[in-house]
Amino acid sequence: MNTDKQGLLTCSASGIRNFVSVHDVTNINALVAKALDYKSDPLKDKTLGTGKRIGLLFLNPSLRTRLSTQVAARNLGMEAIVFNVDKEGWAMEFEEGAIMNGTTVEHIKDAAPVLGTYFDILCIRTFPSLKNREDDYSEMFIHQFMKYAGVPVVSLESSTLHPLQSLTDIITIKENISTQTKPKIVLTWAPHVKPLPQCVANSFAQWVNAWGEADFVITHPHGYELSEEFTKGATIIHDQDKAFRDADYVYVKNWSAYHDYGKMPENDPGWMLTEKKLQHTHHANVMHCLPVRRNVELSDEVLDSPNSLVTKQAGNRVWAAQAVLSEILKPC
Ligand code: CP
Repeated sequence: MNTDKQGLLTCSASGIRNFVSVHDVTNINALVAKALDYKSDPLKDKTLGTGKRIGLLFLNPSLRTRLSTQVAARNLGMEAIVFNVDKEGWAMEFEEGAIMNGTTVEHIKDAAPVLGTYFDILCIRTFPSLKNREDDYSEMFIHQFMKYAGVPVVSLESSTLHPLQSLTDIITIKENISTQTKPKIVLTWAPHVKPLPQCVANSFAQWVNAWGEADFVITHPHGYELSEEFTKGATIIHDQDKAFRDADYVYVKNWSAYHDYGKMPENDPGWMLTEKKLQHTHHANVMHCLPVRRNVELSDEVLDSPNSLVTKQAGNRVWAAQAVLSEILKPC
């Protein structure tokens, strides 16, 4: 990916640009500044996308990502079309060389180029199976879209990452910083009723580490270690109370095991974030990507307290998406 003087995304030699991880951005602060500019003046580039169409393909459910990306696209003058591939499309095959004599009806090699003729930007949500780590971490689904669509691809959450969420999280942290010193950010595992992907936690760790402007701690029970590919640079502490000491931000998220892939080695309800635990922190702001299981991951008292940034955070999804789409729309 090439960048301009401010480090923002510019056209690559082939004219195809994608947003699937932090590696597609060389200057996070410039992108955050752009998002905050849009927050103060949402329609400042209202004609940038005139005559352009964005396709939002969902293979999995979504509330925030689906709506915030549509609002962002419309703020830039684009026409947004949503397609629930899982419910309304043909069952899609992603394996190269597959003999399609089973349940899949259409190969990505045939579908993606067609979608590329309908849309100027393609956005895709594909969750992991949580059955086979190698398959999920190969990111085959989104890579196949990038390979065959012929237009820029934006991840709306893939098998291992959720970059639009993480950009939003950095925006939210930056706009709420009240300390002159590096903020202490703690990502904490939380209990859940079922195993969830590692995407949000991986992605948050990847972006905070790349941003480099925080003391970053990750806390989780033994058995929930994430891939070092994303956590390298963070301090890992298994004692949650100790991890919370003097924290300015506590980011709460459940994830399933990476090593014993997709399993829940334990599900201790004692890891739920409560007001009592927040007392160890430096009046920490509390974040969660939503949707959240109330009184399982976080208590009502925390979610409904002034410390909770979750609504503001979800609102910022629009500005993150708008900043990324506008960078992709920039004329070459
Ligand atoms: N945080 C997030 O991605 O929310 P949705 O799953 O509702 O899009």
